[in-house]
Amino acid sequence: MEQTSIAGKVLLVTGASQRIGESIVRLMHAEGMNIILHYRHSRSDAQKIQQELNAEREDSVILIQADLSETNKISEMIREAVKGWGRIDAIVNNASSFYPTPIGDIDEKAWDDLINSNLKAPLFLSQAAAPYLKQQQGCIVNIVDIHADRPLKNHTVYCVAKAGLAMLTKSLARELAPEVRVNAIAPGAILWPENDIDDVTKKRILSNTVLKRQGSADDIATTVRFLINEANYITGQILAVDGGRTLSN
Ligand SMILES: NC(=O)c1ccc[n+]([C@@H]2O[C@H](COP(=O)([O-])OP(=O)(O)OC[C@H]3O[C@@H](n4cnc5c(N)ncnc54)[C@H](OP(=O)(O)O)[C@@H]3O)[C@@H](O)[C@H]2O)c1
Repeated sequence: MEQTSIAGKVLLVTGASQRIGESIVRLMHAEGMNIILHYRHSRSDAQKIQQELNAEREDSVILIQADLSETNKISEMIREAVKGWGRIDAIVNNASSFYPTPIGDIDEKAWDDLINSNLKAPLFLSQAAAPYLKQQQGCIVNIVDIHADRPLKNHTVYCVAKAGLAMLTKSLARELAPEVRVNAIAPGAILWPENDIDDVTKKRILSNTVLKRQGSADDIATTVRFLINEANYITGQILAVDGGRTLSN
């Protein structure tokens, strides 16, 4: 199997101070990558991870703070990120807002917030980083959702945003080829949302999952590792990591 060493290469992960983003950072750091850890509000969580990982390997993690809704600041954010090691080899667009928007209650604030974090920011971030990624024959991994093409009740705006991100993945794979590969991961039930859902709903979701269990953040992180480090001939693909959830009705 063709596999290149990723030690010393530079990875930017958005929304990476907790949960799935944190797992991606920890795994890819353990693989030897240098990390640009982006966060918005969770500064102390981000600092804790940075301290821990820099203690393991000196100067291997830098932090970058930004609200990704502020599109006009994204180019500056990438310029700032590149200052760290003078290069970017891979980006994981992980940051996301997620909450219900029942029809009748949708307002422009929710539309802007959900579309900006899940769709608009990944586009502008990828565009700003494209010249650097091309120099390194790099790659982009977008974190989508199985609900990008199977609507989740009461979540129209989130689903629309993730559907856009799925198309963005395929479109960027064409636009940035042949230098940059662009793929996505569509998680199923990995970590329950912070605004918790009830036990009956959890049971229903897991009983509709072929493997009858929740996934883990590490299941997503190992798939990121595969797409960055091993999938040299894969681009424009969306890989469901969902325990077979999309196989059932
Ligand atoms: N959890 C699951 O089971 C599951 C299932 C399907 C898909 N996914 C996808 O997997 C990814 C990670 O999921 P998760 O549950 O770990 O995510 P999460 O904890 O809900 O959110 C990750 C981070 O996104 C950041 N964020 C949100 N809006 C932002 C904005 N406007 N600008 C900058 N940062 C922003 C937040 O950073 P701060 O805390 O620093 O503000 C947050 O910590 C997401 O793309 C999600 O849609 C997850």
